[in-house]
Amino acid sequence: MDHPATDLSTVRRPINDATGLPNAHYIDSAVFEAEKQALLFEGWSGLAVAADVPEVGDAVPLTFLGIPLLLIRDRRGVVRVFQNICRHRGMILVDAPRKIDGAIRCPYHSWCYSTEGQLVSTPHVGGPGRNTHDGIDRTLLGLIEVRSHIWMDVIWINVSGTAPDFEVANATLLTRWKAFDKPLYHGGAQSSFTLDVNCNWKLAVENYCESYHLPWVHPGLNSYSRLEDHYHIEEKRLFSGQGTRVYRQITAEDGTVFPDFDGLAAKWATAAEYIAAFPNVLLGVHRDHTYAIILHPLGPERTLEHVHLYYAQPDTCPALRERNALQWKSVFEEDVFVVEGMQRGRHAVSFDGGRFSPAMDSPTHLFHDWVEGRIEHARRARHAAE
Ligand code: FES
Ligand SMILES: [Fe+2]
Repeated sequence: MDHPATDLSTVRRPINDATGLPNAHYIDSAVFEAEKQALLFEGWSGLAVAADVPEVGDAVPLTFLGIPLLLIRDRRGVVRVFQNICRHRGMILVDAPRKIDGAIRCPYHSWCYSTEGQLVSTPHVGGPGRNTHDGIDRTLLGLIEVRSHIWMDVIWINVSGTAPDFEVANATLLTRWKAFDKPLYHGGAQSSFTLDVNCNWKLAVENYCESYHLPWVHPGLNSYSRLEDHYHIEEKRLFSGQGTRVYRQITAEDGTVFPDFDGLAAKWATAAEYIAAFPNVLLGVHRDHTYAIILHPLGPERTLEHVHLYYAQPDTCPALRERNALQWKSVFEEDVFVVEGMQRGRHAVSFDGGRFSPAMDSPTHLFHDWVEGRIEHARRARHAAE
């Protein structure tokens, strides 16, 4: 992969002197391709949620950054991610979500695969009436599986296959939020929604991890959770975000609230945390619910944000769940005009990446430092290979 030679030397400076990433990192398709490899394929990226395939045999085709993938819950209940292609002539296997009964049958010449990926039948491969051939070793022709891991119900994938194990790569975050590593119950159809946003995916991360914008962009939230109630979350080269000390539970008129997660420490009675798990997953945790936003980059200037809300118990009040989803939807919609406005701003030819408030923007600067580190690593690897 060619890495266009943008100058990132000012990005890695200490925050007082740093600039943000150059415009090309938001608008240039060659940079988008290079970042796809260095930032999204080489680490653990969010793809979907396990709740997308709730039952055995559920199969959902997805295209992620150009790659045709198949998400499936196999006959043992394990969620797997395969490349959605037949090992014979590369035909797409599944072209719409459906339930697989038995085997995945290729629509072209009917080679069949188990839900665990083994090639199980090859009709007439040895000539009419002969379903085997010495030259075709089925054991070597299973579906190509993409490394995956589920945490917070998010299906994380490592396309390159070279990242450290998920639990190693994300050990600090897993430790920080150990209290939420328990069953999460998806709130159902009304607890999922997608925003289609005209911005580079990184702007969604940059905006998510800072609280500086709350007073102006989220006046409703700010009325009870003020700027001074927030703290930065910063783990260099890993993740960043923000927390609040004054989370207020959503409450129905009759006083109903969502049940809490079991065994939370006292701080969670009023705290909530919002973390961008680099590269593309935005997470929120509260005493009574969590959410995950998976950023699905469609191109340098367009991103889908898939939002899913989760609860501590499976049978919470539907009306309250709906209110909670609508409340979060309106908060996330409030952010759209700023991420789209920043995106349009990246076409200003004299923009130098901008500056950071040394006091307020350090989580965003930390993300840029992570991006810079990953890109420089990829550039060095490429030079070494030449
Ligand atoms: S391409 Fe799938 S069976 Fe031929
Ligand atoms: Fe926001």
